[in-house]
Amino acid sequence: MAQVSLKNVTKKFGDVTAVKSINLEIKDHEFVVFVGPSGCGKTTTLRMIAGLEEVSEGEIFIGDNLVNDTPPKDRNIAMVFQSYALYPHMNVYDNLAFGLKLRGTKKKEIDERVAHSADILGLTDYLDRLPKQLSGGQRQRVALGRAIVRQPQVFLMDEPLSNLDAKLRVQMRAELQKLHKRLQTTIVYVTHDQVEAMTLGQRIAVILNGELQQFDSPLIVYQKPISRFVAGFIGSPPMNFVNGSLIKKEDKYFFEAESFKIEIPSDLHEYIKEYQDKDIVFGIRPEDIWDVPSSAWIDKPCIMESKVDFRELMGSETYLYLKVGCNPLIIRVGAMCDAAAGTKFTIVINLRKIHLFDPENQKAII
Ligand SMILES: Nc1ncnc2c1ncn2[C@@H]1O[C@H](COP(=O)(O)OP(=O)(O)OP(=O)(O)O)[C@@H](O)[C@H]1O
Ligand SMILES: [Mg+2]
Repeated sequence: MAQVSLKNVTKKFGDVTAVKSINLEIKDHEFVVFVGPSGCGKTTTLRMIAGLEEVSEGEIFIGDNLVNDTPPKDRNIAMVFQSYALYPHMNVYDNLAFGLKLRGTKKKEIDERVAHSADILGLTDYLDRLPKQLSGGQRQRVALGRAIVRQPQVFLMDEPLSNLDAKLRVQMRAELQKLHKRLQTTIVYVTHDQVEAMTLGQRIAVILNGELQQFDSPLIVYQKPISRFVAGFIGSPPMNFVNGSLIKKEDKYFFEAESFKIEIPSDLHEYIKEYQDKDIVFGIRPEDIWDVPSSAWIDKPCIMESKVDFRELMGSETYLYLKVGCNPLIIRVGAMCDAAAGTKFTIVINLRKIHLFDPENQKAII
């Protein structure tokens, strides 16, 4: 069994607290991604799981074993780094075999394991080549292969694709998913790229300033972000936020920020009552604001006038940058949309998809 548990894990470097009391239960065979902005503590957390960094407070379990004092080589993990650091003078076979030789593994077993991992990674035809004779993607696969031959219970990967160009990253992403299915092991993967997190993780752990913000499936994190930070970090273009206040008129509640005015659906009233006459942050994703022709099917729409600031054609779609009063909004519309800068544009907001955040603690209210 290779579940990984972090219980109140904290890491201090002198005065800097890089990781603050993180609790995580990673299941056996699960693919979990740590994601967050630069410096939020992803690598530090991974290195503590690997045993490369001491835990200041808390406990780490791999399987049923408390590993706080277990040296890295006895943790049954393998780590893949961003800089794949292959031995330049060794061919692919020797790069893959090196760790096993050091451990005194028998030649026959080394041959079998190298052949197996080369097969999984499509490297069989390259075993005689030196790293400099390989493409970036192939080198990255050798780095993965070095981890695979060790047959660890847990793979720890720190931004393993970030040295590759965009196209190759997409290809390797697909390969990593297939690899996870074939290997049937636990993978903990670090990235600051939210697209990589969304596409790879069975669950993603969003970290900010050393604190775990949310740990859930990509879809839940996307649809029900727990805080304004998570809402803004996951998704591209990011969620639109409007600062305003909650006003009650008769038995209706309205979010208002100048001309940006929205009636809150009645089934949400019970969650927002306490914010009456207070500041509140409204959130809506770019795909939940529509132009009029596309909005016919929306069950509870809200119509508003905006002005086009500029537009970006993305090929398959267009991002329109709008303003409602002085509030900026990004929306996604069809590629054919030719709304010109400075013209009026009627938008329809899908009231079923609105988010509201507490401006003080940044937590999601709905
Ligand atoms: N050895 C160290 N000594 C002092 N501070 C450190 C050390 N290692 C990391 N830190 C600090 O701990 C915090 C977390 O660093 P970490 O490397 O875990 O971030 P990260 O989330 O992996 O960022 P990135 O996306 O840039 O790789 C940062 O503020 C960093 O400066
Ligand atoms: Mg890092």
